[in-house]
Amino acid sequence: MINVTAPAKINLFLDILGRLENGFHSLFMVMQTVDLCDEITVDKGNGGISLTCFDERLPQDERNIAYKAAAAFFKATGIEPNAVITVTKKIPFEAGLAGGSADAAAVIVGLNKLYGTELSTQAMCEIGLTVGSDVPFCIKGGTCIAQNRGEVLSEVKPLKECFIVIAKPEKGVSTAQAFAAADSTHIYHPDNLRMLDACSRGDFNAICKHASNVFEQVIEVVERIEIKDVMRSCGALLYQMSGSGPSVFGIFDSKEEAEKCVRELKKSYKDVFLTSPVNYGAKTI
Ligand code: C5P
Repeated sequence: MINVTAPAKINLFLDILGRLENGFHSLFMVMQTVDLCDEITVDKGNGGISLTCFDERLPQDERNIAYKAAAAFFKATGIEPNAVITVTKKIPFEAGLAGGSADAAAVIVGLNKLYGTELSTQAMCEIGLTVGSDVPFCIKGGTCIAQNRGEVLSEVKPLKECFIVIAKPEKGVSTAQAFAAADSTHIYHPDNLRMLDACSRGDFNAICKHASNVFEQVIEVVERIEIKDVMRSCGALLYQMSGSGPSVFGIFDSKEEAEKCVRELKKSYKDVFLTSPVNYGAKTI
């Protein structure tokens, strides 16, 4: 049996540049994996793909992205499907944290090890992209500029050690609906070049200064103001929504301040996490 850890991601930057011919949106993002992880196991069984997800709110069959990732792996490699998969959820879903994509990434990485197929990261990313736009980044992980659908990845200097508080309001957001909302309104573009420059230099203060997420212009999350207020009052250097929301993250230099922020937010919210950036994506343990 292979155990795989599947880190969540946050978006330090997210701009929508336009529409691609395939219907997806052309994006400019800065992505970061954090140590809030789902746990996945993959093993051989008696043929076919079986999935147990220890959260009954999620489908346990071919509708689950982890299942789709396994099917895509077997199709790409020509191996007869045979996998028993378990998924233990820690990452909240419909949260803007790529929880589903992280699971899909972990299944591909796990099956690559289980079957000794020795696929390159690039080859695994190509399989991953067939099931979701964020899966390639979830395989690669670390600190990356992600463009096009999200699959054109350029590594930049790792984010310096810091503490990232993540709070997820109760109501999830559908990514498809978020993109539809963005299509129906004018988006004011943030300063992509300054963010690119900050990332290429690994300038933490400039990254915090130029961070932005255009989904905040179109997605209404009532709790966002309150969460940001708490983060600001606790000393966060940056507070921003991740992906299409609704999760909001705050970045802190000081662990004590981050812990205080977690305590404050836990008074009102169930899903509050203290995390740190990691320089890996889905990986076997
Ligand atoms: O690829 P994925 O399944 O994660 O996409 C979820 C939703 O977000 C889909 O509706 C897709 O059309 C939209 N999307 C998009 N452009 C992207 C990524 C996702 O329009 N670059």
